Amino acid sequence: MTKRSIASKKLWKLGINDFNTQYFDFNKEGDLIIKEGHNIYNVKYLAEKFGTSLEILMPFVIEERLEDFLDLTAALSKKVGYKGKFFYHYPMKVNQSKEIVMSIVGEGAHLETSSYNELWLVKKMLEQETFNPNIRILCSGPKTDNYINLIDDLQHKGVKIFPLIEGPNELKFLQYSKFDVGIRLDMPIKASSYWNKPIDRFGFSAKEILEMGSFKNLKILHYHIGSQIEKLSDVLGPIKYALDVFFKLKEKNPSLDTLDIGGGMPIPYMRTKGYPVDKLMEKILELIKKESEKRELPHPNLVCEWGRYIVAPAQISVFKVIDTKRISNKKSPAKKWYVIDGSFMNDLLDTWSIGQKWAISPVNNKRDGELTDVWLAGSSCDSDDIYTGVDGSVTLPDYNSNNGDGEPMYIVVYDTGAYQTSLAAQHCMLSSPMKIVAENGHIVVARKHESPEDIGKNFGW
Ligand SMILES: Cc1ncc(COP(=O)(O)O)c(C=O)c1O
Repeated sequence: MTKRSIASKKLWKLGINDFNTQYFDFNKEGDLIIKEGHNIYNVKYLAEKFGTSLEILMPFVIEERLEDFLDLTAALSKKVGYKGKFFYHYPMKVNQSKEIVMSIVGEGAHLETSSYNELWLVKKMLEQETFNPNIRILCSGPKTDNYINLIDDLQHKGVKIFPLIEGPNELKFLQYSKFDVGIRLDMPIKASSYWNKPIDRFGFSAKEILEMGSFKNLKILHYHIGSQIEKLSDVLGPIKYALDVFFKLKEKNPSLDTLDIGGGMPIPYMRTKGYPVDKLMEKILELIKKESEKRELPHPNLVCEWGRYIVAPAQISVFKVIDTKRISNKKSPAKKWYVIDGSFMNDLLDTWSIGQKWAISPVNNKRDGELTDVWLAGSSCDSDDIYTGVDGSVTLPDYNSNNGDGEPMYIVVYDTGAYQTSLAAQHCMLSSPMKIVAENGHIVVARKHESPEDIGKNFGW
């Protein structure tokens, strides 16, 4: 490896397990490569072959992450002496792409749906016998009539399906159901997560739940406080609170045997170290064991729905820099605009909606050595369609699109596998990125570049 590519690798923090970048490197030409065991994908080559904007989905990353996580939990359960069962449920809302759902289920995940439409996909897979009928499905989200009817239909067919009751109307239908149900607790504890609002509409307070009277078949107590929880203690505090409610609720509902702690395990988008998953998992299992044994009760089963944690690193988004412009305002920490052939507002919508930060590197880096601080601009007309980096700018190789600087410059945004696909928009009628799947050394096209006709149809043309 040349000195230059070592420097680039270090600068953009590739090859580091703690940042989930062990799959990436630069080759000696300065091109970004993806490593799947001994298979290698050259990202510049893929960008040239398929065109940009381009999403590259890597199911092998999901498979490895989930396998490692399930092995870790089994090993820690043994170490700690935790006797409950552990179930990983993939929340489909994180990314409903078939390639993702199929690989995650293939590794042994159960599912969580948040709508009728997601459950409809599950039904389809069950009918096609592509899912094991023993798969367990948790159903959250408001229960519209069609959602309730589909749950009922699948329950009668023997599918292990657990509606999680979130509101009074659902309670009316489900409290005395002859099938298993769960209930959602509105967690009053504040946590370091954007989504943890002081007041939200999800679930019932502990007081309300404990005053409800008994259920026919209550199995699960569930809560979800938010995604990307920044502090480890903010995961443990709510578990302790929920366990207290759990054991009180169990007095009237002996069938209750499972605690579902929802999502929240974060991703190091900003390439700074957070808390490690093994430390967190060990503390969770110890806490459940301690709280159960204090009351001389069996350890509850544990469900977790960490979606972002498993899926975000399994996709990257590749764009071409189609124009460069000087920023003359001296107050700006960036020297140039790089305009890309995609859109932060459309294709990475969280950039705009919640100020999401991303790790970004060049795809082709022949000009290594000369770096500059830039702001990135998407192709829509909107002044909000920009990305200004973690610390006020993005460091990329210096590039001038107008001076015949040889090959075009491509950039890559990492960790784009969670939420961005289903949130995507069509501002200025821009086309969504093409999506390809890289697995076992092969590339499969999952979504072609959208034509004006494809998009026009959504607007009645
Ligand atoms: C009920 C529920 N479970 C799980 C998740 C997934 O959270 P994350 O992707 O942060 O793990 C969400 C996200 O909104 C959720 O609403």
